[in-house]
Amino acid sequence: MKQPIGFFDSGIGGTSIWKEVIKILPNENTIYLADSINAPYGEKSNDEIIALSVKNTEFLISKGCKLIVVACNTATTNSIDFLRKNYTIPFIGIEPAIKPAALFSKTGAIGILATKGTLTSKLFEKTTYEYTKNITTIKQDGEGLVALIENGKLGSKELDKLLTIYLKPMLQFNIDHLVLGCTHYPYLIPQIKKIIGNNITIIDSGEAVARQTKTVLEKFNLCSNSLTTGNHQLYSNTQTNVLTEILSDVLVNFSVEKLNF
Ligand code: DGL
Repeated sequence: MKQPIGFFDSGIGGTSIWKEVIKILPNENTIYLADSINAPYGEKSNDEIIALSVKNTEFLISKGCKLIVVACNTATTNSIDFLRKNYTIPFIGIEPAIKPAALFSKTGAIGILATKGTLTSKLFEKTTYEYTKNITTIKQDGEGLVALIENGKLGSKELDKLLTIYLKPMLQFNIDHLVLGCTHYPYLIPQIKKIIGNNITIIDSGEAVARQTKTVLEKFNLCSNSLTTGNHQLYSNTQTNVLTEILSDVLVNFSVEKLNF
């Protein structure tokens, strides 16, 4: 099936997932939608996030996508149930990897950095309740981080300052795992490590989502049987330079287009 796999995020962060998917599924065609004009989703209400997720889904379906990866924790935790009920194509979601962090924690304390929209969602509440009964969880809203990344401020002093405010207090609780609950945050790992050191395990879900995408494609017989590498079309509804910049380590061919959307 040559139809593309669709991806959407509130912006450029979901490319951290897209990169993992194209690594293990090199022959698949993909379409990525960065809804940057509406970032950050994390500050919006549940209804607003559902409405944006529907709009993004409609766009990707109109482009012929056979499966959609919701490459955004905030959109997943707020809207994936709605999307699955209302559309017939399969959806892959991403939510903070609390389960492995709790399972492997030796100190009994884990940190979770995510958006307000994720931390206040019902799905997050359910997962936390299920897996962290005997674990201390330090939850931190990463307010402002997504906006800075979307504005091309990776590596900046402003980001350092915010990350220090958000992460330093977690160290007092002796956390041994830090869960990154937003697809923008893997791009902050070098800056995060400078603050928390190398002894705390940082968990993001990119590889797990890529494996799950492959499993679901196989299950529904949707895999591409093409022998050549896939085509990759990325769209942004703001200036495309920050998106292009974040793709500078990508070795396959892709094109980026500005969209009025
Ligand atoms: N990448 C989105 C996520 O994973 C960012 C959400 C936002 O725009 O606040 O949650």
